Amino acid sequence: MQALILAGGKGTRLRPLTVYTPKPVVPVVNRPFLLYQIDVLRRAGITDITLSLSYQPDKIQILLGDGQEYGVNIRYISEPSPMGTAGAYKFAAEDTKEATVVFNGDILTNIDVAKLLEFHQKKSSSTTISLVTVDDPSRYGLVEVDSDGLVTRFTEKPKADNLGAVGVNTINAGIYILEPEVLDLIPEGTNKSFEYETFPEILANGMPFYGKVIAGEYWLDIGTPANYLKAHHDLLGGRIEGFELERSAESDIATRAEIDEASVIGAGCTIKPGVHIKNSAIGPGVHIEERAVIEDSVIWAHSRVSASAEVHDAIIGRTCHIGRNAVVGPGSVLGDKTSLTDYTRV
Ligand code: GDD
Ligand code: MG
Repeated sequence: MQALILAGGKGTRLRPLTVYTPKPVVPVVNRPFLLYQIDVLRRAGITDITLSLSYQPDKIQILLGDGQEYGVNIRYISEPSPMGTAGAYKFAAEDTKEATVVFNGDILTNIDVAKLLEFHQKKSSSTTISLVTVDDPSRYGLVEVDSDGLVTRFTEKPKADNLGAVGVNTINAGIYILEPEVLDLIPEGTNKSFEYETFPEILANGMPFYGKVIAGEYWLDIGTPANYLKAHHDLLGGRIEGFELERSAESDIATRAEIDEASVIGAGCTIKPGVHIKNSAIGPGVHIEERAVIEDSVIWAHSRVSASAEVHDAIIGRTCHIGRNAVVGPGSVLGDKTSLTDYTRV
C-alpha cells in the first residue's frame, strides 16, 4: 500500500503565513505539519509516501528529506504548473497497479487508515472517501450516501440555495482510497479536479463509490488562520489522541516566569522574569521580555516580544518584532518579519 499527499496548493487562505512557508510545512506545535499525516500513515503500516508538490517544492523537500528520520520513504513529484487534485494524482501515479491512500495535505486527523482500508476492501470499492460531519458544509465537498454507504451525490462547495435542498451535512474529509482503475478516467497531462470532475464521473459511470463517516476520531482542515489556531488549542489541550508533543526542548526560562502546563516552548528560547504564557506554542529561538503576556497564541521561530507587550489569540510569524507595550489582539495574523512599534495595537 502506498500513499499520496496532495500538497501543491498555494495556501492562499493561510496568508500571510504561507508567503514564505508552504502550507504543508507550516509549524504546528513546532513540527512541520505534514509530520502529523506521516505519523498517521506510518501507524497504518504505510511507509511509501509520495508528496505531490507545486508551490515552493524545494522548501518542503529540504525540510522533510527522504523520510528516513521519520521511519518512511518519501518520494517527491513536482508539477511544472498546478494540475488540480486528480491531475496531480495521475501525474504522480506512473504505471501503478496498486491502491493508493490519498490525503489532502492540510487535514489534521488521527484517523485509523487501516480501518478505512478494511471497509474499502469489504465493499470491493473502487473509490472510498472518508466523510465527516460539520456545521457549515458550504466550504467543503458535500457528500450524500445511502444506508449502505454508497455515494449518491457529490457537490463541491454547494451554493446556499442548493444546501437547503440537500439537507445533509456530511462532507468530504479529503482522505481517499483509490483503486488504479480511477486513473483511467483522468487524461494524461491535463488539469483535473477530483471534486469537480472525477468524483461526479465515477458516480455517473456507476463504479463502486463508497463513503465512510469518521466517528470518534479527530478531523480539521488547518487551511485558515482560525482553524490553524484551533489545531493548536486542540493539540495543546490534549484533545487529539495519538500525537506526542515535543515538550522537552532546552530553553533559558526565568524562574519568575509563569508558563502553564498546556504551553509548549521550543528550543533555545529566552523567557524573562514576570512573563505569563498560557495555552500557547512558542517556536524555537523566541525571546520574550519582562512582563510580556502571551495567551492562546502561536509564535513562530526567532520572533521577539518586548517588555510588557500582550499577545492574545493571535498568530505571529517568523522573526517578528513586537515592540514594548504593544497589544496584538484576537484574530491578528502577522506575516514573517513584521515589526510593531512600541504601544501599537492590532
Ligand atoms: N499537487 C497538487 N496540485 N496539490 C493540489 C493542487 C494541485 O494543483 N490543488 C490543490 N492541491 C492540494 C492542496 O495543497 C490541499 O492539500 C488539497 O489539495 C486540497 O486543496 P484545498 O485548496 O485545501 O481544498 P479545500 O480545502 O477548499 O477543499 C478540499 O478539502 C475539503 C476538506 O478539507 C476538497 O477536497 C473538499 O471536497 C473537502 O471537503
Ligand atoms: Mg483545504
